[in-house]
Amino acid sequence: MAGNRTLTMIKPDAVKNGHIGAILAHINKGGFRIVAMKMTQLTVAKAKEFYAVHSERPFYGELVEFMSSGPIVAAVLEKDNAVEDFRKLIGATNPAEAEAGTIRALYATSIGENAVHGSDSDENAAIEGSFHFGGTEMF
Ligand code: RTP
Ligand code: MG
Repeated sequence: MAGNRTLTMIKPDAVKNGHIGAILAHINKGGFRIVAMKMTQLTVAKAKEFYAVHSERPFYGELVEFMSSGPIVAAVLEKDNAVEDFRKLIGATNPAEAEAGTIRALYATSIGENAVHGSDSDENAAIEGSFHFGGTEMF
């Protein structure tokens, strides 16, 4: 996944609220190709591992609880400049600050329950892709 792939998760709030289809359509309209996808639920241990970088932050416990609270949809997305372009498509972490028309502006409810994840670097995109998918599950 060198430079043209990113990892997203449609988070438990957006799955619960029935936004899987709309978010996937938004992603496709944004020019991203889905090269891996699954619906799954993170255990507490897996959620802790995925967000380990935030383990010292005050919101870590809440984040882990939320991310393991229900099913998610994980996907690897392909496009030139995927990481940066996808972060633009999803908008700011806090939906109140997300630009109009972005996925978080449309579907997130709060800074904690913010509808989607997007990798923050090419290096993390590769790590996060392998976290969710084996080599035979990415196309
Ligand atoms: P993500 O990793 O999920 O794509 O989100 P992000 O890069 O925009 O934000 P990040 O700083 O990496 O934070 C990860 C997730 O932690 C939750 N959070 N809650 N209550 C709070 O102040 C707070 N701050 C962050 C959010 O779910 C955020 O997406
Ligand atoms: Mg992040």
